[in-house]
Amino acid sequence: MVTEKSAIFIIFGGSGDLAHRKLYPSLFRLYKSGFLKDHFAVIGTARRPWSDDYFRETVITSLKDYFDDDEEIMQGFAKHFFYQSHDVNDSEHYIALKNLAAKLDDQFEAGHNRVYYMAIAPRFFGTVAEHINSEGLKTDGYNRLVIEKPFGRDLDSACELNGNISKAFPENDIYRIDHYLGKKMVQDIPNIRATNAKFEEALNNKYVSNIQVTLAEAIGVEDRGGYYETAGVLRDMVQNHIMQIIGAIASDAPEAKEADVIHKNKCDLFGSLKEMTPEQVDKDFVRGQYDTDKLGNEKAYRQEDKVAEDSNIETYTAGKLEFDSKRWSGVPFYVRSGKRMPGKASRIDIVFNSNVTELGIKANTVVTLLIERTDNHSILINGIDYKESGQDFIKFPEEGDFDNAREAYESLIIDILSGDRVHFTLWDELRSTWKYIDTVEERWADQQPDFPNYISGTMGPDAAEMLLERDGNSWIWD
Ligand code: BG6
Repeated sequence: MVTEKSAIFIIFGGSGDLAHRKLYPSLFRLYKSGFLKDHFAVIGTARRPWSDDYFRETVITSLKDYFDDDEEIMQGFAKHFFYQSHDVNDSEHYIALKNLAAKLDDQFEAGHNRVYYMAIAPRFFGTVAEHINSEGLKTDGYNRLVIEKPFGRDLDSACELNGNISKAFPENDIYRIDHYLGKKMVQDIPNIRATNAKFEEALNNKYVSNIQVTLAEAIGVEDRGGYYETAGVLRDMVQNHIMQIIGAIASDAPEAKEADVIHKNKCDLFGSLKEMTPEQVDKDFVRGQYDTDKLGNEKAYRQEDKVAEDSNIETYTAGKLEFDSKRWSGVPFYVRSGKRMPGKASRIDIVFNSNVTELGIKANTVVTLLIERTDNHSILINGIDYKESGQDFIKFPEEGDFDNAREAYESLIIDILSGDRVHFTLWDELRSTWKYIDTVEERWADQQPDFPNYISGTMGPDAAEMLLERDGNSWIWD
C-alpha cells in the first residue's frame, strides 16, 4: 500500500551530478507511484544564481535521460521544485532558505517536515549542519539530515565530521547513506536468513570454509579522478559497501526487526574485526592500479584527468578479513573490489565445507547471492539458479519480487520519509570499520607500490590469486 508522504526537501548541491543522476529520478519515481503527490516541495540550492524556471528545466532535461513519460507529467512534478542561490558560509542565506521553506510548507501543506540532503562536497557537511541549527531552520515537524559519502577519509576525519554534525543533529535524525544498503538483495539478506532455517544454521565456522565478497567494475574512474585521488578503492568501496554487505550476511540474526537491534548486532560484528599488525597487512592485503589495456586503447589510471602522473592510489584491492568471535573465528572473509576489471559483478559467495552434510546439504556447496539485478538469478547454488539446483535448503522468500525491485535511492528515500533507519549506517559501525581500514592505509603509506600492476580488463594483480591459494582456496568468480 502506498501512503503519501509530506516533506520539504532542501537539497544542498541541488545543481550537482548526484542530484540530477540519482535524486531527481528517484523522486520522480516516487511521484509516479504516489509516495509523493501534493504535499511536498524540493528546494535546490547551489551558489550559482538560477531562476526557479531554469532549475525546473534542468530537472526535466535530466529526467528525459531516464524516462519517456509525457512532458505533462514531468511538468507537474517540476512545479514542486524551487531554487535558492546559497553560499554555505553566509548566515543570511540560511534565513532566506528558512523563509522559503516555511512559505512552501504553507503552500503544499507539508506538515512542517524537513529533509536536509547533503549532496555537496564533504568539506561543507559540518558547516551546513551547524548553520541549519544555529539559524533556526528546524521546525516542530521532523528534521532529518541525510549525508552522502564519503564520511571522512580516515578515523580522525570521520570523528571530526561526526562531532560537527552531532552538535547540530541527534544521531536518531542522521541518515548516512550507503547506497548498497538500498539494494534489493542486500535488504533481503535478513529475510533470506530468517526464512531458510537450514541456511541460517549453517552460517558459522563449523560449516563455512570461507566467504567471498566481490564488487568488480568494468569502468575506470571516468571523470572522478579528482575525488579518487583522495580516496582509492579501499576507502571508496571496502570501508563502506563491502563492510555493510559483510554486516548483513555475518552479523547475528536479530531477534527483532527493530533498527536498534539490527545495528547492535552489526556493531558487535565490526567490533570483533581482528586487528592486524603491519606485517599482516603486507601478507593479507593486495593493492593494484590499472594500466592501459592490452591494445593500449584505454587510459592507464595515471593518465586519467586530474590524476597525478606518479599517483600511488590503488584502483584494486583484495584482502583477507578475520573476526574474533565465537561464530566466525577461523573463517577467512576474502574481499575484493576494482575498477577496469573484466565485467561488473557484485556478489557474495559462501563456500561451505564438508561438515554441511550433517545438515543435509551437499559437501562443499557454494551459495552465491547476486546483488545486481543484471540477470534473473538472485541466488545461485554451485553456479546455477537455486530453483534448478535440486537442493532446497535455500530459496528466495518472495518469488518474482525482484522484477519490481526499487532503485536503491528510491527505497532509501522512502525509508528517510518514514523514519526507518535500518538501512543507514550508524556512527559506531563507521568507527570500527574506519579503525580497521586505517591499519591498512597506514601501512601502505609507508611503502612505495610498484604501480601500475594490472592490465585494464583483467582480474587484477596475481597476488590476489595467491592470497587464497595460500590457504588452499580459490576465488569463485573468476
Ligand atoms: C560508489 C563509488 O559508492 O559506488 C563508485 O564511489 C562506484 O566508485 C559505485 O562506481 C558503484 O556502485 P554500483 O551501484 O554501480 O555498484
